[in-house]
Amino acid sequence: MSEVKEIAEIPSFTVTLSIRRFDPEKSEEASWEEFQVEMHSTDRVLDALHKIKWEQDGSLTFRRSCAHGVCGSDAVRINGRNRLACKTLIKDLDINSTITVEPIKGLPVEKDLVVDMNPFYQAYKDINPFLLANDKPEKERLQSPEDRARYDDTTKCILCAACTTSCPVFWTDGQYFGPAAIVNAHRFIFDSRDEQADLRLDILNDKEGVWRCRTTFNCTEACPRGIEVTKAIAEVKQAILRGKP
Ligand code: SF4
Ligand code: FES
Repeated sequence: MSEVKEIAEIPSFTVTLSIRRFDPEKSEEASWEEFQVEMHSTDRVLDALHKIKWEQDGSLTFRRSCAHGVCGSDAVRINGRNRLACKTLIKDLDINSTITVEPIKGLPVEKDLVVDMNPFYQAYKDINPFLLANDKPEKERLQSPEDRARYDDTTKCILCAACTTSCPVFWTDGQYFGPAAIVNAHRFIFDSRDEQADLRLDILNDKEGVWRCRTTFNCTEACPRGIEVTKAIAEVKQAILRGKP
């Protein structure tokens, strides 16, 4: 009979989370509230939020769906930096100091960590995020591996808004299309099968378009998918100047 190996116990520790709370039915002002939670080294910030909601305060409000870095719904500001709560291990933060969790900036807060994403989605819709071709093909549209590689990076976007809401231009002027919309425009502008690159380049040549970008790289640092956001914006700027992708 094979020996059953004992599984080593995962170490636990207590952390303090300070969460930015806002409930429009109770107060016009947001405020910080502290919670202490017992966590394990394998736990993520999302696990801490769940634990608080399930064991301490059921009114704590936040978005999440997949819990595995795919749906993009749980972007929050953790210790002042935009991240996905489900991809941030507590042990990788300074667990001896209070961990702050607040909503992403630049979008109206609805409750606690939940923001109104509509302005963000509107900018996404405005760039026509779908293939635009002039005819109906009889067979599949072919593309060489080299052509496919031109926009590979920007196909990875999960629309989490971490980039756009880390951008100082977006904070001061919510009219700016923002990095995520430009990334998704890039995905089609550089797709050799798409025939409306001019249309998208025209849209982004607007006063609220790519020229508002100040190349601060906040967006690239914030992206949980590792997309080179600033590079994509620069490529769209060059395409506008060239008049073609
Ligand atoms: S580019 Fe990155 S940070 Fe921006 S919305 Fe897409 S996945 Fe999120
Ligand atoms: S919950 Fe889906 S990305 Fe975090």
